[in-house]
Amino acid sequence: MYAAHVLLAIVMIIGGSLQLIPAIRTKHPRFHRYNGRIFVLLACTISMAGIYLILARGTVGNTLMHGLTIFGGGVVILSSLLAVTAARKRNIALHKIWAIRLYLAANGVLFFRLMIFAWFLIFGTLGVDTTTFTGPTVLAISICSYVLPLLIAELVRYAENTTNKVITLITASLMVLIAIVFLVGLFGVVLANWFPAIVNL
Ligand code: HEM
Repeated sequence: MYAAHVLLAIVMIIGGSLQLIPAIRTKHPRFHRYNGRIFVLLACTISMAGIYLILARGTVGNTLMHGLTIFGGGVVILSSLLAVTAARKRNIALHKIWAIRLYLAANGVLFFRLMIFAWFLIFGTLGVDTTTFTGPTVLAISICSYVLPLLIAELVRYAENTTNKVITLITASLMVLIAIVFLVGLFGVVLANWFPAIVNL
């Protein structure tokens, strides 16, 4: 179950990113449709498997953290249904809104890893109880992984349509800050987690 969970996640992360490339959508709508259906199927399967693992096998963290991960899984399933329904009704603007919410919710676990490893690299285990993997930092990063991206997507959509320069500047600066945190986190997770896992295979 764990191996399937991780391998499918890799396929989904690459497939999902291809959905967001406008050139692929306009030139290859058939690829977008079928790759999109695979993404939706995988995202819903992985979310249901993840919710099963939390409820049946248990995992690190406390009830609040489990609740936030299950919330993320719920958003994936709801957004999948609404994104596909909107595309079938040719309401592409609504499809785009729900598809982006789906993409962000489906990548919540990836955002969590990138942020927690960025934190470890800069602040060590400050605010983290490493035995139970709970603490204020873990809770804050869970909220930043499963709730904040959905709110930032709303801010970006608002900033896209406003003439208010301050809002545009704040939103653009926020996106740059997020990109820097993710790059630091990627360096940390590869160094501490993924590269050792690969070389020790
Ligand atoms: C992760 C993100 C996305 C996923 C998973 C996704 C998924 C899908 C799926 C499953 C369909 C086919 C629906 C059906 O007939 O069964 C579809 C169609 C479509 N999507 Fe997306 N989509 C995503 C992002 C986007 C974005 C950002 C746009 C931009 C506007 C977009 C535009 C379209 C269009 C125009 C169609 C109709 C294609 C056609 O049938 O000619 N999608 N998408």
